[in-house]
Amino acid sequence: MWILITGAGSGIGRALALELSKQGNNLILAGRTGSKLEHVAGEIRSDSPTSRVVTLTVDFADPASTRSLADRVCETVDHLSAFIYCAGAGEPAADFASLDLIDFQEALAVNVSAPMLLTQSLLPVLNGRDPASRVVMIGAGMDKHAQPGTGSYGVSKMALRRLVQQLAVEFGTMRHGPVISLFQPGLVDTPGIRDHIDKAAELNLPHAQWLGERLAEGECLTAEQAASALAFVLVQTAESDFNGAVFSGPELVDSLSFAGS
Ligand SMILES: NC(=O)c1ccc[n+]([C@@H]2O[C@H](COP(=O)([O-])OP(=O)(O)OC[C@H]3O[C@@H](n4cnc5c(N)ncnc54)[C@H](OP(=O)(O)O)[C@@H]3O)[C@@H](O)[C@H]2O)c1
Repeated sequence: MWILITGAGSGIGRALALELSKQGNNLILAGRTGSKLEHVAGEIRSDSPTSRVVTLTVDFADPASTRSLADRVCETVDHLSAFIYCAGAGEPAADFASLDLIDFQEALAVNVSAPMLLTQSLLPVLNGRDPASRVVMIGAGMDKHAQPGTGSYGVSKMALRRLVQQLAVEFGTMRHGPVISLFQPGLVDTPGIRDHIDKAAELNLPHAQWLGERLAEGECLTAEQAASALAFVLVQTAESDFNGAVFSGPELVDSLSFAGS
């Protein structure tokens, strides 16, 4: 079974790639930085030598690059059993007056337009299967909790939540269409969140201190915990419970550790 993971060079995407390869899946790793993808591919080849792994670079801020990624995926496989969009972007701003239009547009491009275009362009390898191919988008709690300086990220993640609702409805009209859900990871200790906290702290944004304290106290998931919860959603959830659902990483990690105790 082939699975596509975007944003696979670091953080949650990297941890998910390692987890799914251990479960025997073949992977296409897509991301912006080729060297990061090759590093993850090397880890997979060493830990799970029977898994096949392909790396493809893409810049989701550029629709032509997103379309090119879809073309290369369709040339590589005739079917994807799953596709997880882990790439994400959204620069903080000191205040509304300095919110940069380029940053705002980039967040909308990477967090909303690209997942729509990529899903649409991948339909030939997602459609017409039973069991249905599974698509997961990664949301963020900021989609409902507006904080100063987080407009680019929060507005785009809110639109992503609505996109998932829309696609669930559209897929429901297709014969053997894919199914889609939103995964809300909660706070996860990754290079991406640490970079965000550093930038927000430089801008004196109040949420930086709060996030930094949560990480320092270990009140967050590890990327590996978030990946285990995501893998559970992909592999263990009944198809009837999947389309249009919103899954919470922290709740899943709690219930999985309770079940294992
Ligand atoms: N960590 C958290 O607490 C948290 C909370 C809520 C939601 N999330 C979401 O979880 C997802 C994964 O984030 P993470 O925390 O694991 O952060 P991360 O380590 O920074 O991973 C994000 C990935 O997205 C890729 N990416 C960014 N812009 C891109 C572009 N224009 N084209 C292609 N790839 C691009 C990055 O590639 P490069 O490294 O090559 O630039 C990186 O591999 C994101 O959607 C994020 O919004 C995270």
